Amino acid sequence: MTILATEGLSLSFGGVRAVDGVSLSVPENFVFSIIGPNGAGKTTLFNLISGVYAPDDGSVRLAGADVTGLKPDRLARCGLSRTFQNLQIFFRMSAIENVMVGRHRHERTGVFADLLHLPAVGRQNRETRAQAEAALDRVGLAGLAGQSAGSLAYGDLKRLEIARALASEPKVLLLDEPAAGCNPVETAALEGVIRGIAAGGVTVVLVEHDMRLVMNVSDRIHVLANGATLAEGTGAEVRSNPAVIEAYLGVHGAREAAHAAH
Ligand SMILES: Nc1ncnc2c1ncn2[C@@H]1O[C@H](COP(=O)(O)OP(=O)(O)O)[C@@H](O)[C@H]1O
Ligand SMILES: [Mg+2]
Repeated sequence: MTILATEGLSLSFGGVRAVDGVSLSVPENFVFSIIGPNGAGKTTLFNLISGVYAPDDGSVRLAGADVTGLKPDRLARCGLSRTFQNLQIFFRMSAIENVMVGRHRHERTGVFADLLHLPAVGRQNRETRAQAEAALDRVGLAGLAGQSAGSLAYGDLKRLEIARALASEPKVLLLDEPAAGCNPVETAALEGVIRGIAAGGVTVVLVEHDMRLVMNVSDRIHVLANGATLAEGTGAEVRSNPAVIEAYLGVHGAREAAHAAH
């Protein structure tokens, strides 16, 4: 079943067609990656899918329903959540508090009632904490729940972002460059985290430049260049596609991608 689909999605900034007629279809429970050179339109595509921007043209469907132009908080309630390319962490809060901020989208009482310690929120608060702990556990940060976010290593912060996005219990999770700035050990840890999330029944849409990670976790890869679709296929198909090698991978990258699969 298709869980997420775009049809002819387009958005221009001034004269630049950042996303130019992109149609894609993400099967449920896939790890579906979107790759392409800097400026190809990957983040803008995520912004369109997650409701940060409304498209000039085209549509987005989530679990069969037309969700085009819905705002991010509405989409979160519909089961779509994302991380951002730049860290969106509150460094003076603990790790678990950062996750609970994400979780509050799901609640009726909201973050302000919570901060005011209103009695009605007590039980919900405990549920929120339990769910935040579960989200931290899914990214391997259960042991660091009480640590100040400012004291965490960079790779842990990237995983904390993922935990926060998971806290709203999405069906579809969009990850924008989770390995950017990570060292090889942190990237390898992310690979396990992404596999675990997918094994738990969440469809993952991944934007990433680390070809080893992409090749190792992806069920399918969609390649963008200049805002438009260049190719789509399995890792093996994409890394041997001459147009993809020319536009993005280069000879070195194609070799690296081939190496990753072995
Ligand atoms: N808010 C914006 N305003 C103007 N131009 C933008 C904006 N966001 C992205 N762009 C342009 O759209 C194109 C695609 O950018 P982006 O989606 O960030 O690419 P990627 O994530 O693949 O690197 C680039 O030419 C970029 O300069
Ligand atoms: Mg980007």
